[in-house]
Amino acid sequence: MKLLSDIRNIIESELNKITLFKSKEKLYPEYLPSSLPHRENELKTLTSIFKPILLTPGAISHKALVIGGIGTGKTATARIFGKEFTQIARKRGLNVNYVHVNCHRDRTLFEVVNEVVKQLRLPIPQRGLSVREVLNYMLELVDSENMYVIATLDEFDYFISVAGSDAVYFLVRVYDEFPDKVKRLNFIFISKSATSLSMLDPTTESYLMKNLVMFNPYSSYELYDILKLRADEAIFEGAVSDDILQYISDVVGIDKGGPGSARAALEILLIAGETAEREGVMNISLDHVRKACSIVEPSAVMLNDTLPYLSFHELLTLKAIVIALMKSGEPYVNTGVVEEIYHRLCEECGVEPRKHTKLYEYIVSLRKLGILISSTAVKGRKGRSTYISISLAPLGVVKSKIDELLKVKMVYEGSDS
Ligand SMILES: Nc1ncnc2c1ncn2[C@@H]1O[C@H](COP(=O)(O)OP(=O)(O)OP(=O)(O)O)[C@@H](O)[C@H]1O
Ligand SMILES: [Mg+2]
Repeated sequence: MKLLSDIRNIIESELNKITLFKSKEKLYPEYLPSSLPHRENELKTLTSIFKPILLTPGAISHKALVIGGIGTGKTATARIFGKEFTQIARKRGLNVNYVHVNCHRDRTLFEVVNEVVKQLRLPIPQRGLSVREVLNYMLELVDSENMYVIATLDEFDYFISVAGSDAVYFLVRVYDEFPDKVKRLNFIFISKSATSLSMLDPTTESYLMKNLVMFNPYSSYELYDILKLRADEAIFEGAVSDDILQYISDVVGIDKGGPGSARAALEILLIAGETAEREGVMNISLDHVRKACSIVEPSAVMLNDTLPYLSFHELLTLKAIVIALMKSGEPYVNTGVVEEIYHRLCEECGVEPRKHTKLYEYIVSLRKLGILISSTAVKGRKGRSTYISISLAPLGVVKSKIDELLKVKMVYEGSDS
């Protein structure tokens, strides 16, 4: 009985702890805000690109290309546009559906097409069909339900580099084979930069560039409005002053030498709030913010974006690389050493190690994602094996992030991925 009351006490005291957040998740990057200050023009341009769907439905397949740096509101704007546009279209009697695919998670053509099917809730058998078969099946069903689709392929740069240009053509030219078909699929491609598009042929590239919507980094006064909006939703009145919000906006604003990322600004506010909370105070101070700023750097943000999408064994491989780099203290390590450490890590976790070829595939895919750098010819070393390094720093931070993710993934994926 004593035990039960102890547990109750722990829970009660945790619940009674003071907090300055009324709704902390409203500061999370995936939360869709109720409005998007300073993205009115981008929303207008998107609307003008897809307006013909309402005027002359099915005449052509429309495609927009959204380009902008980290945290410039690309994902949020596309999602909100999709949500509102479909509702307006439905009021006008047109069955428009919006789907949003993250190409970080779904990296192959097959995964992307299947994700679209899944989000549209189309009854297509999952097994044994080729991509082309799934797509044709989908086009038929979409036809029979008289449906129009706007599909956003977010993090499209990853798709181009991992799936390759053939996969891109397959999507961009879906209707080339069927000139008489009603064009029901439309796309929004989101990318961080235009450089990855140069991998495509000039016709496709120039086609996409014609419908370009640029998302510029935010200036400090724009960030202030964004922070104000989100802080009002997430934090109790009086817990954060306007001066504090202004300070964060000045640190992050592009016009003041910052990255201009709303993601970074919101993360700083979140971490500062959490620090205040841990200290048991109801006010965010400048010191809390300064501390948070030192934690939130671009490479830390990239860490939080990329690593959670890796599979269990990809993470183990990456951990092996980090350990090897830490041990050697050199800029590059040999894949042979990495493999040895990987085997030891598998043993420690009690999982079956993947074969040599599979491990090599993980390394190739981590390199394509921009996490690894590799070199086959390191001066002054013998042998032909590949030398690898990681582009994220510092190693200790990367390692603890991997450990945190491995703990979670061990439960779900450890045995089968
Ligand atoms: N204009 C805005 N108003 C309110 N919140 C915004 C605005 N722009 C961005 N945000 C918020 O900032 C965070 C990052 O935005 P978002 O995820 O849309 O950026 P992104 O351009 O997709 O970045 P990335 O390239 O890193 O994916 C989200 O929480 C988003 O809601
Ligand atoms: Mg995004």
